[in-house]
Amino acid sequence: MALLRAGEVLAFLLLALLLSNAMSIRVHPRNNNSSSGSSSTSTVNNDSFCLSWRLAVEANNVRAWRTVPTQCLRHVEIYMIDGQYDRDMELIMEQISSYVDGLPLLGDAMDAWVLDVDDTCISNIYYYKGKKYGCDPYDPLGFRAWATKGGCPAIPSVLRLFNKLVAKGIKVILVTGRDEESLGQVTRDNLHNQGFIGYERLILRSAEYKGQSAVNYKSNMRKQLEDAGYRIWGNVGDQWSDLQGDCLGNRTFKLPNPMYFVP
Ligand SMILES: *[C@@H]1O[C@H](CO)[C@@H](O)[C@H](O)[C@H]1NC(C)=O
Ligand SMILES: *[C@@H]1O[C@H](CO)[C@@H](O)[C@H](O)[C@H]1NC(C)=O
Ligand SMILES: *[C@@H]1O[C@H](CO)[C@@H](O)[C@H](O)[C@H]1NC(C)=O
Ligand SMILES: *[C@@H]1O[C@H](CO)[C@@H](O)[C@H](O)[C@H]1NC(C)=O
Ligand SMILES: [Mg+2]
Repeated sequence: MALLRAGEVLAFLLLALLLSNAMSIRVHPRNNNSSSGSSSTSTVNNDSFCLSWRLAVEANNVRAWRTVPTQCLRHVEIYMIDGQYDRDMELIMEQISSYVDGLPLLGDAMDAWVLDVDDTCISNIYYYKGKKYGCDPYDPLGFRAWATKGGCPAIPSVLRLFNKLVAKGIKVILVTGRDEESLGQVTRDNLHNQGFIGYERLILRSAEYKGQSAVNYKSNMRKQLEDAGYRIWGNVGDQWSDLQGDCLGNRTFKLPNPMYFVP
């Protein structure tokens, strides 16, 4: 009898909890003045537009965009530096991590993983801060000057994934569109001083691939890896062009980047 009572009480509490959740989901946005009354209409409209724009960009529905819409400067800035970008990255890294834990690795030194470099392993956020977070058009000379300094910081959540992959004996291959001749050494040094140690190879763009689209160039590089016997279990990049084309690997993971688009 007492047991039955306890069961009923529990069921009632559960129901109450469910109902209150459901109600708060429905009612909260309409009653909440912070999303309508207190802030200026232009901020709200900008933010609403910019959220839509950013979602469309990440889903690859908006393509070949050249600059961030000027009214989204603040939106993108806040997204990048105020915690949400880091949280989004952490969540993706958790997904990757559990995928990695379930892999049927053969352990024959041919299990491989492909990582992009810019805004995947190391961050260009400080450079883009000076470019209005992508509201200014792409500036190849400016970017090269920045990259030459070798001061890109590691993205912490990706560095943790990197270390996990290496520890599991997965061969990590870094594939970047950076120019081999002018940026090879500085990129190697930058990765090393940021803790990216123990990767299998760093592949940079050699003269032969100059001018090729990122999709072609990166597909070619992955094809060569597969021809050499590597099994690419995963492929991670901040650009869709990292994750399209041939020999993509068993799973791809798109990282957020609302600041620029590489065709
Ligand atoms: C929202 O704000 C308006 C005016 O600022 C006020 O009249 C109204 O009662 C508020 N509504 C709620 C649900 O707080
Ligand atoms: C409005 O919503 C935000 C989060 O959406 C919440 O933190 C805040 O307390 C709410 N304000 C009011 C007046 O309900
Ligand atoms: C919203 O966009 C308008 C028009 O581009 C701009 O003047 C305004 O500063 C923006 N507001 C914010 C908060 O970004
Ligand atoms: C991984 O991808 C390769 C190549 O597409 C395929 O042959 C293999 O079956 C896949 N393995 C798993 C476990 O999905
Ligand atoms: Mg990149």
